[in-house]
Amino acid sequence: MIKGLRHITPYTPGSQPAGTDMIKLNTNENAYAPSPEVQRALQTFDSGSLRRYSSLDQDGLRQVLADHLAVAADQIIVGNGSDDVLSMAFLAFFNTQQPVLFPDLTYGFYKVWADLYHINYQEIPLADDFSLREQDYLGLNGGIVLANPNAPTGLSKSLQEIEKIVQANQDTVVVIDEAYVNFGGESTLPLLNKYDNVFIIRTFSKDASLAGLRVGYGVGNPKLIGVIKAVKNALNPYNVDSIAECLATAAVKSWDYYKQANQKIVATREWFAAELKRLGFRVLESKTNFILTEPSGVTAGDLWTYLQSRHIYVRYFPNVERLKNFLRISIGRPAEMEKVVQAIQEFL
Ligand SMILES: Cc1ncc(COP(=O)(O)O)c(C=O)c1O
Repeated sequence: MIKGLRHITPYTPGSQPAGTDMIKLNTNENAYAPSPEVQRALQTFDSGSLRRYSSLDQDGLRQVLADHLAVAADQIIVGNGSDDVLSMAFLAFFNTQQPVLFPDLTYGFYKVWADLYHINYQEIPLADDFSLREQDYLGLNGGIVLANPNAPTGLSKSLQEIEKIVQANQDTVVVIDEAYVNFGGESTLPLLNKYDNVFIIRTFSKDASLAGLRVGYGVGNPKLIGVIKAVKNALNPYNVDSIAECLATAAVKSWDYYKQANQKIVATREWFAAELKRLGFRVLESKTNFILTEPSGVTAGDLWTYLQSRHIYVRYFPNVERLKNFLRISIGRPAEMEKVVQAIQEFL
């Protein structure tokens, strides 16, 4: 018997099935390819430069991002996917005895990090309609983490509603995870001018079609950036590789391409939501590149199994009590979503 081994309940990511003949709608990846500029940057990347370590602070990428977001470069920290930035934020900002608050239904990783780092936390139930009640976040706490838009519900809060929470908690850090904000949500970036306790997290995985590249970033007051940077340098200073920095920079510089791609996804989402409603399904109003839906006439589990037999992969949460009648379906290209509707119709 070996002593000292850690028991931990890990995060369960959506599966990554291999195969070409499938419609993969289970991990909210972007339906479209990276921009031509990103593809060109990959083709012309100087492999000789890999002899050296990557940059420590991604000055080039941070400057391009700063211009794009109209903030200062010293308000940004880059990480190996937003999971990396979120994980460091938990370590950097949540060090009181008070519980960190987040909704009972949200990105499942928050709870895992809190457990991993022995951070006291409290899951605040969303309302019956899955909406977030600002008044639940006004009491004593050790920090707050909100995905806005939320996942897996897809629901979004306005800037004004989030501001109420930030304003009422100026002695703790409020982390706003904006992974999906560019599919119709309202960004909280304007709050950075008024409050120094907001930390906003973004990713290239969803709106920039670069989930496999692993780049995300946090935006906040330079003081918060200093604290999280110290954590980064205590863990893994070269956490962002040189290829990732180069390609992410090209992505920001070609944002017009992504704006168009993401507009197409929003249009497809609205079409798909209307189709599901036509079939009698309950559909939550999504501001993301996925939809949370409660099937009608069949169970979520049976539909999930059937779709999988047709090589259509969507997300099912059988172990989450409030979600076990729901499926989360990422938005693919129009032809893919037409096939999904057809398959559902055939099963009903
Ligand atoms: C709300 C939310 N935040 C963060 C992430 C992590 O994204 P990444 O680590 O790819 O940047 C995800 C991924 O699904 C997510 O849904």
